[in-house]
Amino acid sequence: FLTIACHAAPRGQCKANRDNTVSYTGFQVWTITPHSKAKQSTLMKIIRHYNLEMWKETNEIHEPVNIMVPPRYQKEIRLRLEEVKIPYDVEISDLQKAISNENPRTNASAANPKAAHQMDWTSYHRLDDIYGYLTYLADRYPCRVQLLNVGSSYEGRPLYVVHITNSTSPNTPAIWVDGGFHAREWISPALATYIIQQLVEEPSNAKLLVNVNWYIMPVVNPDGYEYTHLKNRLWRKTRSPTGSSSAKCQGVDLNRNFDFKWGGPGSSSNPCSQVYKGPSAFSEPETLAYSNFISSKSNEIKLYLSLHSSGQLIMLPWGYERNTFPSDYDEMLTLAKNAACKFRKFTYKVGNKVDLLYQASGNSADWAKSIGIKYVYSVELPINGFILPASNILPVSQDFFRAMDVFAAEVSTLS
Ligand code: ARG
Ligand code: ZN
Repeated sequence: FLTIACHAAPRGQCKANRDNTVSYTGFQVWTITPHSKAKQSTLMKIIRHYNLEMWKETNEIHEPVNIMVPPRYQKEIRLRLEEVKIPYDVEISDLQKAISNENPRTNASAANPKAAHQMDWTSYHRLDDIYGYLTYLADRYPCRVQLLNVGSSYEGRPLYVVHITNSTSPNTPAIWVDGGFHAREWISPALATYIIQQLVEEPSNAKLLVNVNWYIMPVVNPDGYEYTHLKNRLWRKTRSPTGSSSAKCQGVDLNRNFDFKWGGPGSSSNPCSQVYKGPSAFSEPETLAYSNFISSKSNEIKLYLSLHSSGQLIMLPWGYERNTFPSDYDEMLTLAKNAACKFRKFTYKVGNKVDLLYQASGNSADWAKSIGIKYVYSVELPINGFILPASNILPVSQDFFRAMDVFAAEVSTLS
C-alpha cells in the first residue's frame, strides 16, 4: 500500500489503493441527534474543530445529522460525545465496504458488447455509456430527440442537452431537468437518464409530450463524474485548477458559481472548501455553457428541476437568504406539494431551501428564478448520503417519475 495525500476527505488518515484511487477504509458515517440547543452548539463545535464533513444537516434539534468520521479521530470524538451525553449511532461502519458494494458490475456491455447502447438502470454507468445512449436515441428517434452540444467541460468533455419534443408549434412551453452538478451524487444522472428513457421510449408517456417540450442535461459536471468513477468516489466539485497544489483544493462548486448573489453566505472563497465559489461568477465553462443555453430558452422554459442527492427534499428559492421569498412562492409551493403527493414509496419534504437544507449563495436555482423562470425547484433525492446501492436506482426513479404528470399538466397550460 502506498500512502498519498488525502484528496477530498477532510483532514485525517487517507490511503491510496494499489491503483491510486482514494480509499475510505475505516471511515465511518455517524448519525447524531443533539436533542437540545446547547448540545447542538457543542456538536457544531466538534464538527468544526475536526473539520468533519456533514452528509446531512438540519436546524431541528430532535432530528439527526450525519457526519463522516475519519478513522484517526473516531476514538476522540466518541469520548467527547459521551462526555457531553450526545447520543450517536454508527450508520456506515466502513465506508470503503459500502462503496465497494454500491455498484455491482451488471452492465449490459459484458453481456452484449454489440448492443446498440450499454445503458440500463440496474447499475451506475460511466459517462461513455450515458453519452452513447443519448447518441443512440438521437439516431433512432430523429423526429423526437435532438442532442444539443452546448459546450465543453474544463477537461474538454462535451456538455449535452437532450431536447425531446412532439410538437411543431413555436410557442410550446418547456420543462428543464438537470443532474450531475455534484460529481458524487450518482443517483441524479441515473434519474435524469431514466426520465429521458421514459419520455422517449415508453409510448404510454406520450401525454407528457403534448404541448410540452423537455430539455434534459443529465451530467452537468462530466469531469467530476468521471473522477468519482476513477479516482475518488466522494469528489463533489469540478476538476479545474485553482492555483493550489493540494489535491483537495482543485475544482469549483458549480452550485455556488452562478451570477446571482454570487459570493454571499453559504459559499466560500477558499479553493479547498467543498463550497468554493470560484474566482468569479460563471468562471467555469460548465456554468457558463449551462446559463447561456438556459438564457437562450428562458421564454420557453416554465419549470426548472435540478436533481441532487440526498435528503428527500423539494426545495424552493430563495437559497441565498433566510426568510426571503419570490412573490409567487405560494404558487410554486402548491404545485410542488401536488407533485409530492404522487410519490408512493418515498416521502419528500417541500419548502424553502434555507429552511430545509442551508443557505447557498450563487446556486443555480436562485439564478434560474432570477431570470424569470416560473416554477423553480431543486431536489434532494432519496435516501441517505452519497452511497446508494444501485438496486435503488429503479425504485427511486419510478417513484420520482410519477410527479412528471403533475408538472407537465401545469406547464402545458402556460405559453
Ligand atoms: N446535494 C447537496 C448539496 O448540494 C448535499 C445534500 C446533503 N446534505 C448535506 N448537508 N451535505 O450540497
Ligand atoms: Zn448536490
